Amino acid sequence: MPSESQVVVRPARGVRGSARLPGDKSISHRYAMLAGIAEGVSRIENYSTGADCASTLACMRSLGVRWEKKDNLIEIHGRGPGLSAPSGPLDCGNSGSTMRMLSGIVAGQKFTSELIGDASLSRRPMERIIRPLTEMGANIESQQGRPPLRIHGGALKAVDYKMPVASAQVKSCVLLAGLFAEGETRVGEPLRTRDHTEVALRAFGVTIERKGNETRIRGGSPLHGIEARIPGDISTAAFFLGAAALFPGSQLLLPGLLMNPTRARLLDILMQMGLQIAVTQLEETHGEMVGTIQAQGDQWNGGVISGADSAALIDEIPVLAAIAPYSAHGIEIRDARELRVKESDRIAAVAANLRRMGAQVEEREDGLKIPGNQQLRGADIDSHGDHRIAMAFAIAALRATGETVIHGADSAAISYPAFFPTLEDLVQR
Ligand code: S3P
Repeated sequence: MPSESQVVVRPARGVRGSARLPGDKSISHRYAMLAGIAEGVSRIENYSTGADCASTLACMRSLGVRWEKKDNLIEIHGRGPGLSAPSGPLDCGNSGSTMRMLSGIVAGQKFTSELIGDASLSRRPMERIIRPLTEMGANIESQQGRPPLRIHGGALKAVDYKMPVASAQVKSCVLLAGLFAEGETRVGEPLRTRDHTEVALRAFGVTIERKGNETRIRGGSPLHGIEARIPGDISTAAFFLGAAALFPGSQLLLPGLLMNPTRARLLDILMQMGLQIAVTQLEETHGEMVGTIQAQGDQWNGGVISGADSAALIDEIPVLAAIAPYSAHGIEIRDARELRVKESDRIAAVAANLRRMGAQVEEREDGLKIPGNQQLRGADIDSHGDHRIAMAFAIAALRATGETVIHGADSAAISYPAFFPTLEDLVQR
């Protein structure tokens, strides 16, 4: 992702309006992969517009899956469990989800795959998936635990794997490999992580059991194509909700948004911190909850995010941290060490950019402590090529004095290409 692109964000005086967001990124990846290994055609509406989810679709095409896009609908022609050997490397771009989850699928194929990524993805830890997949019988070459990965797939055997880190990508990788393994695969997680893989597998016809912190899957179950509409991305909504939180009296309507309980903890935390939120029109679609959010800005108080909440809000912490200085009591983030191995070191990136805006910040190994009641000034922000850093600081810029320049703003396209125009539509000046 070239990082020369710049966007100037001017201060605003409020947020008002409505936005219907593209499909959730996490669910889009899973539907594309599962539809590819299912029997029959899947029709997926509102697939994420982000570049990451396009990487997943491109990889599926390289593995012999045919798909066509018509307006807001993608038709995916499932091949069943046997994919075809790719003629070149599978390019996962910036997407950790693509690389980690697809590894589980190609580990069960009768050919060798090479998975590559951009500079950021090439720095990210893959040992966490190499270990369980190797235990299942795959043979994986890596660059000391980092991409590129060469996965020599083949017959797999079930494992009983206890994950050392709370990661939905790792859980998903093992469960997907479990589909191709002989016997029952079990994955235990230290903290509850997003369960879209489990929900999606059920929607495609696979039996999944959950006992306590453990998820179980039997190898060999066939998948059947589905027709589904993907609910709006709640992690993208977090930026606009963050903007609404900054302005008393702001009004924001977000229809058709994902409300899965393993993701919606964000709403509880925002409410505890002072944003008023009402959820209406709650319904279920293919096991996923979807609803309409009405948010109203009030007092922005701040608070603490720690323990299981840090794992549940891992993608939303950058925006909460970026707007922490404007809160009455500050925001403290603990137990969020995983932020250091995302698309950038998000703890360091948030701290450095907040300091550029004149804020006082305490950076810790596993989080940040950001005092409240601080007025920030517009500054030059380095996105580090990380979509969530670029978008988080565009929100922080709305209450700063003077203009803020987001460098590497085009990285927003990784999850939401229309982020800046949508933000312009919603803010009042
Ligand atoms: C995701 C899981 C999380 C999250 C990522 C998407 C997923 O990563 O940060 O953006 O779709 O499963 P980890 O599994 O590494 O925590």
